[in-house]
Amino acid sequence: MCGIVGIIGKNNATEILVQGLEKLEYRGYDSAGIFVTGNDNQDYLVKSLGRIADLQSQISPEVQGTVGIGHTRWATHGKPSERNAHPHTSSNQRFILVHNGVIENFEELKQEFLQGKQLNGETDTEIVVHLVEHFAAEGLSTKEAFKKTLAVINGSYAFALIDKRDAETIYVAKNKSPLLIGLGEDFNVICSDAMAMLSETNHFVEIADGEMVTVKADGITIEDPKGNTVYRESYEAQLDLSDIEKGTYPYYMLKEIDDQPTVMRRIIQAYTNSQGDTIINNEIVEQITASDRIYIIACGTSYNAGWVGKTLLERMTNIPVEVHLSSEFGYNMPLLSEKPFFIFLSQSGETADSRQVLVQTNELGLPSLTLTNVSGSTLSREADYTLLLHAGPEIAVASTKAYTAQIAVLAVLAKAIGDNKKNPVSLDFDIAHELSVIAAIMATIIDEKMVISQLVEDYLSDTRNAFYIGRGVDYYVSMEAALKLKEISYIQAEGFAAGELKHGTIALIEEGTPVFGVITDKKTAAHTRGNLKEVESRGAHNFVIALASLAKETDQIVIPDVHPLLTPLVSVVPTQLIAYFATLQRGYDVDKPRNLAKSVTVE
Ligand code: M6R
Repeated sequence: MCGIVGIIGKNNATEILVQGLEKLEYRGYDSAGIFVTGNDNQDYLVKSLGRIADLQSQISPEVQGTVGIGHTRWATHGKPSERNAHPHTSSNQRFILVHNGVIENFEELKQEFLQGKQLNGETDTEIVVHLVEHFAAEGLSTKEAFKKTLAVINGSYAFALIDKRDAETIYVAKNKSPLLIGLGEDFNVICSDAMAMLSETNHFVEIADGEMVTVKADGITIEDPKGNTVYRESYEAQLDLSDIEKGTYPYYMLKEIDDQPTVMRRIIQAYTNSQGDTIINNEIVEQITASDRIYIIACGTSYNAGWVGKTLLERMTNIPVEVHLSSEFGYNMPLLSEKPFFIFLSQSGETADSRQVLVQTNELGLPSLTLTNVSGSTLSREADYTLLLHAGPEIAVASTKAYTAQIAVLAVLAKAIGDNKKNPVSLDFDIAHELSVIAAIMATIIDEKMVISQLVEDYLSDTRNAFYIGRGVDYYVSMEAALKLKEISYIQAEGFAAGELKHGTIALIEEGTPVFGVITDKKTAAHTRGNLKEVESRGAHNFVIALASLAKETDQIVIPDVHPLLTPLVSVVPTQLIAYFATLQRGYDVDKPRNLAKSVTVE
């Protein structure tokens, strides 16, 4: 969602801001803007609807300075437009502000403090810059006016504020939205994600919720809500610029699909030793072993991975597992077991829906573990334990390698707990070997991508809708396959439990409707084939993805056999490629689907 960048103390502020915003494009946005000042007291505000390239085309050569802030906006309050784009300016033009998050009480604040004030746009953010102006007019310093503003706001925010009368300072604050300070020599930067400023520094300082930071070129001062100075060490970002470049790939999504075999090998390396035993923090293993129920909390693709995780954990550990959507669980918490253990699945580690559940489970004192791709992310910091996915940065909005990494790490975790409980299913399972087989098979499927591209042309070129069906884990993969297809190609796709079709959904089958059957489980293969026959007799254009030992000659995609517990790791790969090629063939932007954001930081 919205992205923030800022720089103070370098001559080429404009270039740094624009490059930083480009690096944040993956988060999803519909407009962008920068404010730059510092040279001979000149200042420039440039905003644009659309892409960073559109913004760039409006930046004339004289837009230069040493201090600036920039923003990509993903519309929540007010439609995408230049007027609603950030930075926002106070009425007297003195204060400039960018914001990521949602101000929940903006209407009440307007009533209370700004009656009669004419605002420019329709955003919840604009009120904030006017409040700073309002409190400054009462005689407060900029810092005090900003603090007073923070004290009356309810909601989530990351802010960067500049006072043109003292453009040697950027004021920064955050609550529930990500923001980092990057440290340089005689300059400092601000960013929603370290990736945005990696070309300037790889030393970053985290900001905690409620803190306010005064950023100058030669140093930063962090204050807690009571005004006490906080001293915090910086950390070195374990990221390489090459990790976030597309290289020769046309789209990040394709690169990330191709990365999957490497990610599997990285997971083997990180979580198993040379004897093939698991290496997982013993405290995590003991705590989960002692629990009577595991609750997996997640959204979107991570939620779909959670269902596969349920099967793995239940089979290997004999502990019951529930999987919940974060956005539902937080507001309708089921009765919990006596000794629950919470697992949060989140690629970004910043998803607001999941975080609101973690805040509640922390208040209840319940133990938690986050599986995330981003070390130092909010969900990682706030849970008791973290297991990293080691997938490398995932930039495409459509999640691919994070899904398979989540399943692989959950498999290792299940194995570690199962071994601890001396569960025979687990003891018989050589996880390092099985994951290395998976890595090799993923690579062979990926090598066949042009065959999949051709099949996609035959099946999806002019359809409005499509269905994925399967049973058990094949149903869980169908849910993920359908999400992938709909979110980027805009084909209305649904994943169904194959046996449920006849209870309603089969009514939607028409002549030519594409139906993709996923068949990897011996127990359910015959039944799913039966369901495929039922839809075929009603006109469906069937497409089967099957494991070799269960395949028929007419099946479109046949995958070599893998360990029965790990089939989702391979059966999902063709479905990722199907979504990719369907989108490419329709001429849409694969990496940046409409209306979506990579990191969903509002509830
Ligand atoms: O970062 P998270 O894993 O918490 O994100 C959850 C969802 O927003 C995410 O998986 C989303 O569904 C993706 N666009 C799916 O491709």
